[in-house]
Amino acid sequence: MNKTFIVAAVAGIVSNSIVAPVSASDTPTIFKFYCAQCHGLGGKGDGPNVTKDFPVSPRNFTDAAEMNKLSDADMKNVILDGGPSVSKSPMMPPWGKTLTEEEVDGLVKHLRTLCKCEGKKS
Ligand code: HEC
Repeated sequence: MNKTFIVAAVAGIVSNSIVAPVSASDTPTIFKFYCAQCHGLGGKGDGPNVTKDFPVSPRNFTDAAEMNKLSDADMKNVILDGGPSVSKSPMMPPWGKTLTEEEVDGLVKHLRTLCKCEGKKS
């Protein structure tokens, strides 16, 4: 790989992010960027990070029976504070330092569209 290529590649990344900035209104992009690597693009828990050595299966967001056990507040908590905050696996990282509350609210709504469920009322 020569230097020109690297410069071109970096310029490509920068111009891409100008064309498509990640903003709170763009939940699918946030999901794709931060969550899909484990949970899968379609939310089935089959992202590229999940190899046979992965100790726990990331939640399948299309499984309405499982997702109905969680209220919106439960989801928000686990997304902000990570798996261990709700006695789940540390393989689910905390996002409170990376994402704003607004972005997390958007993700919760996005997950509800994937499970087509309303969740537990809390
Ligand atoms: C490094 C892999 C990884 C990434 C990245 C990841 N998760 Fe997870 N997630 C997991 C695993 C593993 C579990 C299952 C934990 C368990 O059942 O103990 C999980 C569980 C969950 C749950 C269900 C928790 C529960 O109480 O059942 C939600 C909701 C969730 N993740 C949302 C997200 C969102 C939103 C993102 C992106 C901001 C994300 N996750 C990114 C691995 C990941």
